[in-house]
Amino acid sequence: MIREYEGKDGIMLIDGIAATEIAEEFGTPVYVTEEKRIRENYRRIHGAFSKYMDTRVNYACKANTNLSVLHILEQEGSCIDAVSLGEVLSCIKAGFSPDRILYTGVNVSNEELRGLVDVGCMINVDSESELERLAKISTDVRVSFRITPGVASGHGAKVMTGGKGSKFGIPIKRTIPVYTRARDLGFDIRGIHAHTGSGGEGIDQFTDVTEVLSGLANDIRDKVGIDLEFIDIGGGVGVPYRLQEEETDVEELASLVTEIIQDETEVKTVVIEPGRYIVADSTVLLTRCVDVKDAETKRYIGVDAGFNTLVRPAFYDSYHTVAMANKFNRACSDKYDVVGPICESGDYLAHDRVMPEPEEGDLVAIFTAGAYGFSMSSEYNSRPRCAEVLVSDGKACLIRRAEDTEDLWRNQIIPEGLRQ
Ligand code: LLP
Repeated sequence: MIREYEGKDGIMLIDGIAATEIAEEFGTPVYVTEEKRIRENYRRIHGAFSKYMDTRVNYACKANTNLSVLHILEQEGSCIDAVSLGEVLSCIKAGFSPDRILYTGVNVSNEELRGLVDVGCMINVDSESELERLAKISTDVRVSFRITPGVASGHGAKVMTGGKGSKFGIPIKRTIPVYTRARDLGFDIRGIHAHTGSGGEGIDQFTDVTEVLSGLANDIRDKVGIDLEFIDIGGGVGVPYRLQEEETDVEELASLVTEIIQDETEVKTVVIEPGRYIVADSTVLLTRCVDVKDAETKRYIGVDAGFNTLVRPAFYDSYHTVAMANKFNRACSDKYDVVGPICESGDYLAHDRVMPEPEEGDLVAIFTAGAYGFSMSSEYNSRPRCAEVLVSDGKACLIRRAEDTEDLWRNQIIPEGLRQ
């Protein structure tokens, strides 16, 4: 089941505040995030694993890098999975010390490696090329290695990363040569990592990848003489997006994964990298109905958010539950497509949803939008990015101002000859 929202007098409430009031005060479209839910999600998954063994939760901040979200997770004691120097620096700005950040990049440039070495975070090396290039910059670095485990998972082909032949990671058969080389170069080797993919169903992918990594950790101990500090099983814990979809049983996941590591290895710390699990259901996207159209074979609810605001439906065919926030739980009249202002027919937020009779001015809520929502938004069609609001203790506050048209032009330079 996806999480439920309460309604009062036909209005959807977000942590006690009427969605309509938030939209009125901050404008639309707007991402509205509940602080409490982020904390609950973090504690649930951290608690499940730490019952059994030393656990490090590296929040995969690509899901949502809003500085306030990062501050909340810093306070919770989370660590970070970062994919770019920009993410690393954002986390440092939000109060994370470099030793709480593991950088896992792919096709990493020397310039980025130099930046990471300057910061002093741990680097999860993705290739032999990266290892040799890093060694030329510095070997005074804590490293782990991303292995391609031959186990793939995900909500779609675009987000499956762990299968054989993937662009991510070091091919499994190169594991021993790579660890040997890193040892000989004098690196401070801490762990082993794999990520099977993002948002897949179930938990088999996690037990499968833990088996693979546990076997490799033992091989590394026997053949390279290094006792690894941690096994990092990656992220990708799925969350429900549809009303009836089941939640991932993180209690079972934690118990099975830690049992494998404890039974089969001497490794003391498990690392997990959830992004979506921590932030997805903390946030709804509120968008205003601006236009209603009966197109003979289809009925449209035209809203002010498009794939510039939330790209997941258009890009992955992802499903997000939608509701009419100002006609909450009202009887439905017909099926509608919820579509945005972008000039492409692929611009949609929801297809064929049973909704109450729409009118201009209605407020549509798109659920489970906290992961890869704002972070993947763009200014396409020259539409400035929207605002973000945080609801804490029954109060809503702005945590990112909406961009304006000046922002569209901010970094552009018009050559002298073109100016009249
Ligand atoms: N660790 C690594 C190495 C990753 O590449 C990712 C996600 C994660 C952890 C976190 O995965 P999560 O727990 O959030 O599923 N934009 C797509 C998802 C792309 C995920 C990329 N890597 C979406 O909207 O579904």
